[in-house]
Amino acid sequence: MDKNNLKIGIDLGTANTLVYSSGRGVVFNEPTVVAFDKGTDKIIAIGHEAKEMLGKTHDKIRVVKPIEQGVIADKDSAIQMLDHILKHHIMQFENFNPKKTTVLICCHSDLSMIERKALKDIIVNFGIQNVFVQEEVKAGAIGAGIDIYTPEGSMIIDIGGGSTDIGVLALGDIVVSNSIKVAGNHFDEEIRKYIKKKHNFEIGVLTAEEVKKALATLRDDLEEEKEISVSGRDLKRGLPARITIKQSEVRNVLKRSFNAIASQILKVLEVTPPELAADIIETGVVLNGGGALIDGLKEYLEELCQLNIRISPEPLTAIVKGTKDLLKNKGDYLVAPSD
Ligand SMILES: Nc1ncnc2c1ncn2[C@@H]1O[C@H](COP(=O)(O)OP(=O)(O)OP(=O)(O)O)[C@@H](O)[C@H]1O
Ligand SMILES: [Mg+2]
Repeated sequence: MDKNNLKIGIDLGTANTLVYSSGRGVVFNEPTVVAFDKGTDKIIAIGHEAKEMLGKTHDKIRVVKPIEQGVIADKDSAIQMLDHILKHHIMQFENFNPKKTTVLICCHSDLSMIERKALKDIIVNFGIQNVFVQEEVKAGAIGAGIDIYTPEGSMIIDIGGGSTDIGVLALGDIVVSNSIKVAGNHFDEEIRKYIKKKHNFEIGVLTAEEVKKALATLRDDLEEEKEISVSGRDLKRGLPARITIKQSEVRNVLKRSFNAIASQILKVLEVTPPELAADIIETGVVLNGGGALIDGLKEYLEELCQLNIRISPEPLTAIVKGTKDLLKNKGDYLVAPSD
């Protein structure tokens, strides 16, 4: 690969999309949300601005989340989102030339070859021919500082918006992987359900996420319990109102989800070849994704799984930063999904 050619890495996540460009670093980092004018079908907002519209639109605006559980759920809006990113954040670079640009797009490990090819084709349709698809567990491990090319086994867990992906890597590739749909969106939904049942009070999805980000903890030894006041609808009176949610309430909801994640980690260890499992017990497990930011998670999973857990230095950007290395040093490892 020519040193001067542009190299682009894309992490098209359920919750957030990040784009890396050689020589420039992370050039896009916004929610994977697109808002359309229903009449003209033109984009009216993208990213943060579109996310703020979720649940607040009138009938002339359509807000779409193109990716669900790591898979393209709405192809048209996924194309529109990538089109916007490429036009506004990549194509204006003076060294942009579609024929000399390499794009690496990351995907979940359980994506079929057909789904990988569909992802690749979206980028190819912009005239870019060097398009590769790589598992995000791999990119995320590199971004978290793991040397994945050694024979020593490592386990990486990505707790994203749509799913928690668990991968065991050795000699540059995935040996075992598994995924469950228990991640950020699920936590938000569980918080919403709990508040509805316990307090007879309805809150929106964005408010549930706000509660999670403000209060999420798995610690039992809270010195001072935090709380947050949020607005929604009092279902008894049917009127808008405010409610205060305590940290211990959120902790109890989250514990159920993390117990399920811990069981899944142990299931993956059970089917991991013994030599690699021994390496993981020795070196521990690394956590990526927004869910890794939850307070007390390290200690909670260490207790349940009896493994050493390390939180990645930058859990939200590890994948896209890992694409830099895959694009730069390890070009030989890139494999395009068959045409
Ligand atoms: N401080 C925090 N505490 C708890 N959760 C957080 C925090 N910051 C972000 N999150 C959650 O992390 C999730 C987004 O993480 P991430 O960007 O890794 O997901 P994604 O890559 O878009 O999704 P996926 O990998 O499943 O396709 C969201 O659900 C968000 O609410
Ligand atoms: Mg992700």
